[in-house]
Amino acid sequence: MQSGMNPWSSNQTIDVDRLFAEFGIGPIGEVARRLPEVPPFMRRGVVVGHRDYQLVVDAIRNRTPFHVLTGFMPSGLPHLGHLMVMKEVVWHVQQGGNGYVAIADREAHAVRGISWEKCREFGREYLKALFALGFEGTTYYQSKNERLKDLAFEASTKVNFSELAAIYGFGPETSLSHAMSVVTQVADILFPQLDAGPAPTVVPVGLDQDPHIRLTRDVAYKLRMFTVEDRGDHISVRSKNAPAEALEAVCRAFPGSKKYAGHVDVRGLPPARVENAVREIEIAHGGFGFYLPSSTYHIFMPGLQGGKMSSSVPESLFGFYESDRSVKKKVMAALTGGRMTLEEQRRLGGEPDRCSVYLLNLFHMLEDDVELADLRRRCESGELTCGQCKKETLERVQAFLVDLRDKMDAVEHLAEEVERWN
Ligand code: TRP
Ligand code: SF4
Repeated sequence: MQSGMNPWSSNQTIDVDRLFAEFGIGPIGEVARRLPEVPPFMRRGVVVGHRDYQLVVDAIRNRTPFHVLTGFMPSGLPHLGHLMVMKEVVWHVQQGGNGYVAIADREAHAVRGISWEKCREFGREYLKALFALGFEGTTYYQSKNERLKDLAFEASTKVNFSELAAIYGFGPETSLSHAMSVVTQVADILFPQLDAGPAPTVVPVGLDQDPHIRLTRDVAYKLRMFTVEDRGDHISVRSKNAPAEALEAVCRAFPGSKKYAGHVDVRGLPPARVENAVREIEIAHGGFGFYLPSSTYHIFMPGLQGGKMSSSVPESLFGFYESDRSVKKKVMAALTGGRMTLEEQRRLGGEPDRCSVYLLNLFHMLEDDVELADLRRRCESGELTCGQCKKETLERVQAFLVDLRDKMDAVEHLAEEVERWN
């Protein structure tokens, strides 16, 4: 596992600058500015990067269709670390997106050896949390979605083992099911466009999941029959693997266009018009017409103990149904950016950017920007002691959990319906 980046490893350090420079992830700021309403996770620097998110911004602004999709691997109970993606998905649904959530039971079974029964049990908890947070849309278990599995098979015609080795570091000892769960995830990301028609699709993920996005964009491109290239004075519609009748249909669709071997040149039309018409011709001839999926990338909240947040480190996070006693213990023991002595704290102030308690507030517990700024000011001025700050934070955490659990209990039936109709 040395050549590629491995999204399954649990001790990964991510070099943001390297990802930006090497893999072409763009900073979110430039595109987020054009949103009618910039969500807290973008304002506060939690979501830092994107690919092609401008397509989604345009769709939000113009109220044209777009999809938002994510998946959760049900290898354990949902917890604090899953909350950010859940909020991002819900926010996009509220902005007009068609929501999709995959429960990646195939992946959990293949990669983590979780029994199908456990996958169900954990999957239900993720769904409850999502519905409780306001998610509306389509949800499914990978193993029960037949069209998804067909799409995964189709996707697998465009992926070979050397790509899997380069992207994920797969080797001869990697199980075939692991490779299958990769193409299943590719299919998850393309599924909304198969189900509800081609449209920009945003996949909010952590930076570690970018390999999946790159692979999916590659597969989506390869599954297209045509490419549409803007050549300045004309638009070139190139066949990659289109049947002859489809290329013929492209030529007929644009009066005055010229057909050559393998491409059609179109003049005097805006590229977007040509692209859309070509997409429809492609679908009429049995193709998919996929948009390459867009993505946003968030950084990770550190664990409460100060290291990595991971379910293998219980003190780094809390679950949504964890006992009050245990949640209290973890928050009160959290690593802070406070000074060695109270005297120093009063004199120098705390260091919020190095404090897991501050970040817990920034990520999740303080929605109001003014209150967050006030917390920061009180910390930096030395006015606030860490003990007092933790107590106030704990109260917010407890109120949040009480409310979330109430809502989760109330939507239990929705989570169970997902199992029934698939
Ligand atoms: N691989 C993801 C994880 O490890 C889960 C997942 C499955 C996913 N399908 C997806 C994430 C589609 C984003 C989009 O948690
Ligand atoms: Fe962290 Fe609060 Fe202490 Fe500041 S006062 S370092 S935010 S715990």
